[in-house]
Amino acid sequence: MELLIINIKELVQTREETSACTWVAGANMAVLPSIQNAFLYIKWGVIQDYGSMANMPTTDCKTIDATNKFVLPTFVDSHTHLVFAASREEEFVDKINGMSYADIAKKGGGILNSAKKLQSKSEEELFEFALARVNEIIGFGTACVEIKSGYGLTVQDELKMLRVAQRIGKETPLTVKTTFLGAHAIPKKYEDRNEYINLVINEMLPKVAEAQLADYIDVFCEKGFFTPEETERIVLAGKKYGLKGKIHANQLNISGGVQVGVKTNSLSVDHLESMGQAEIEALKGSITMPTLLPGAAFFLRTTYPPAREMIDAGLPVALATDYNPGSAPSGKMPFILSLACVNMRMTPQEAINAATMNSAYAMEVLNTHGSISVGKAGSVIITKEIPSIEYMPYAFNTDSIETVIIDGVVMDS
Ligand code: NIG
Ligand code: FE
Repeated sequence: MELLIINIKELVQTREETSACTWVAGANMAVLPSIQNAFLYIKWGVIQDYGSMANMPTTDCKTIDATNKFVLPTFVDSHTHLVFAASREEEFVDKINGMSYADIAKKGGGILNSAKKLQSKSEEELFEFALARVNEIIGFGTACVEIKSGYGLTVQDELKMLRVAQRIGKETPLTVKTTFLGAHAIPKKYEDRNEYINLVINEMLPKVAEAQLADYIDVFCEKGFFTPEETERIVLAGKKYGLKGKIHANQLNISGGVQVGVKTNSLSVDHLESMGQAEIEALKGSITMPTLLPGAAFFLRTTYPPAREMIDAGLPVALATDYNPGSAPSGKMPFILSLACVNMRMTPQEAINAATMNSAYAMEVLNTHGSISVGKAGSVIITKEIPSIEYMPYAFNTDSIETVIIDGVVMDS
């Protein structure tokens, strides 16, 4: 199928080969290359050509007129937990009434609550629940998503979650990467934490690897969850099976997780609400993408990651939703952009780079996604008639997206 989008007011995030496959860091994050009065030509699901209207090819294929509209690459959401059994609004109310995230976890809520619920659900049920979320996030402009396990916490339930996540990649338009997060929390029945950690390393991991159910390995490196030493041990065990690290680090405390991520050449360290100068220094020169999840900071009312300091220090940052029932019950990337601008003082250009190019790096889809480049997937967002690209994060509760196209196919709205 061919598709030609014409009269685009501005085609945003256009990158030629050399800049299309590397992350965007520091001052470069403020630069969002674009072409005004442009066309975009997609064939066989892939971008074949783009440029200014003066150079538009002649073809009689399906054409979309994007007069007064912007076109940008679809979002890449590189950190989610979107396979889960049930929402947890009762904890939302507990939090309003003053309980902390750690308090809730201690009383058997939190991750363990989600695990209990997930364990009683069938694979089919979990897939159906997830499908509703998948359709929702496609409407929000997401075409690539990373999905973690971590609400199973038994051998069979972790495998079950990962199979559901992989099935989403096979049976929906989304490109999916999966992450094994057996080390999300220690189930109550283990008096000796090492017993559970050994289960993760010696039983879960080999089975996950054997069935090729995961691309990455994750650990919740946090006080009360897993120590930096345990995190390192688990990530290194994963690496033996070819799984790169993507670590939950420094959400509630300076946990040492950033340094472990860098030391193990992890693909990303995610959250980073608690950061010091040492953590910023550790990331410099590394291959690890600092990934910020402002939806979790918003929802838990914690401090936001110091995005400004990180970018000003020359680092790249990526943005993702953390979509999960406990700390970020939303997969809406446009709202994440707004939060990044309002609460982390990222410019709209920086936020878009973070949610496309850099998040694509953080789930290794940068060769196919993250920018408008010849040869990359024909996955784009067409906005409504809006005055500027800045309007999108500015009008934080307006739906600025008109059409989502994934691999050249127009999604139902
Ligand atoms: O990324 N921090 C750990 N995991 C999730 C929260 C999980 C939950 O509360 O269910 C997060 O915020
Ligand atoms: Fe998370």
